[in-house]
Amino acid sequence: MSQKPWDGRFSEQTDRAVEAFTASIDIDRRLYQYDIDGSIAHCRTLARAGILTPEEADELVFGLESVRGEIESGTFSYNDSLEDIHMHIEDRLFSHVGNLSRKLHTARSRNDQIALDTRLYVKDQGGKIAGQLLDLCKAFIDLAENNIDVVLPGYTHLQRAQPVLFAHHMMAYFEMFARDKARFEDCLKRVDVMPLGSAALAGTTYPLDRSYTAELLGFSSVSENSMDAVSDRDFIMELLSCASICMVHLSRISEELVIWSSTEFSFVDLPDAFCTGSSIMPQKKNPDIPELVRGKAGGVFGSLTAVLTLMKSLPLAYNRDMQEDKKPLMDAVDTLRTCLDIYVRMLPKITVNRSLTEAAADRGYLNATDMADYLVEKGMPFREAHGVVGKAVAYALGEKKELHELDLPELTFFSSLIEDDIYPALSVKQMIDRRKTYGGTATQNVQEAIERARKRLS
Ligand code: ARG
Repeated sequence: MSQKPWDGRFSEQTDRAVEAFTASIDIDRRLYQYDIDGSIAHCRTLARAGILTPEEADELVFGLESVRGEIESGTFSYNDSLEDIHMHIEDRLFSHVGNLSRKLHTARSRNDQIALDTRLYVKDQGGKIAGQLLDLCKAFIDLAENNIDVVLPGYTHLQRAQPVLFAHHMMAYFEMFARDKARFEDCLKRVDVMPLGSAALAGTTYPLDRSYTAELLGFSSVSENSMDAVSDRDFIMELLSCASICMVHLSRISEELVIWSSTEFSFVDLPDAFCTGSSIMPQKKNPDIPELVRGKAGGVFGSLTAVLTLMKSLPLAYNRDMQEDKKPLMDAVDTLRTCLDIYVRMLPKITVNRSLTEAAADRGYLNATDMADYLVEKGMPFREAHGVVGKAVAYALGEKKELHELDLPELTFFSSLIEDDIYPALSVKQMIDRRKTYGGTATQNVQEAIERARKRLS
């Protein structure tokens, strides 16, 4: 019968099915390094409180490092009857330091231990995600800068609306991912709180210097309330919210890349190395990366929903339900991190077919607003100008011409205010460069936005 650290009050051996059902080792084994770091800091704190001698603490730390070595070299063995990573490590510690290992869990519960491990995991992964978002932001800036003079139609309702610079469009994504990065960084401030010392739920009778533990583990503060510390999973919900919003943004650029790389649009070419073919249709080159990223967004939202639902209505403090938080957390982190990684690799290799984007921006009455603005400059109220241009568009549609393809007598029929100087006002170049409001698509504005963006990142 395997010895469990909690089996003193039990008279029957745990049912095998129960062991398998309650075990979380398959998932929380990934927390081993945080668990060991936490235990080492706990040993040092116990020694400082005089609960362990300095020699005992040294020996326990040595034992914990040996266990770490076994896990990292792959010689460690896992077993459902030991439930979780905490019990596995403590059990194995016995083989290295014998009975001394039984002192490690003084003044600690698995409830504060798992809260600590998960916070350390989130801090670590959240920091890496913020780093990946930095790389992604840089990739969008580079893509914008390398295509600074490329024009494409801007859309609303997926109908051609007004011409914009491709760089302006890319810098819109820069803004989204810069916000995502800031959101993760802000979330990490609330993760950065050290829960050890809360024990099961009420705190502990031992005189632990919790600030010392926090300092050893690199936390900037300690939790204020022991019940909150062991039952709070807000930091997971927050991280998953940040991840979900970021996946929304990734799904939007993905959708655009799928549309833009279609034969119908042909605005961009995705690199061959990031596409796959069809097993039956030899001509196919499919945009699998953006499609998969778009599809994976759903799983990340599912993780957020899972943890929200898991935590809803739970009474204080720890409940075993909470063990179910780690799978959705880790799934979402893994998914987001692979999606960010593949995007950072793919983006620099995307090429824009500028002749096609520019031709598209030239057709579809994208200059109708500019024609109305022209009439306003000549003194006509905007609403009236809107009506005049609407009639001109209807006429041009009938003639199968664009507004700028109508000759002057045709145009002046709609308003005597129209003169020869209307043609430059209807050109793509002027349409772009006259949109000089801060945040608009004028070339100089976009160049300045790119400069500011680089500064914001540094
Ligand atoms: N494995 C548990 C979890 O992930 C930690 C231990 C919970 N404590 C307990 N008394 N069962 O939440």
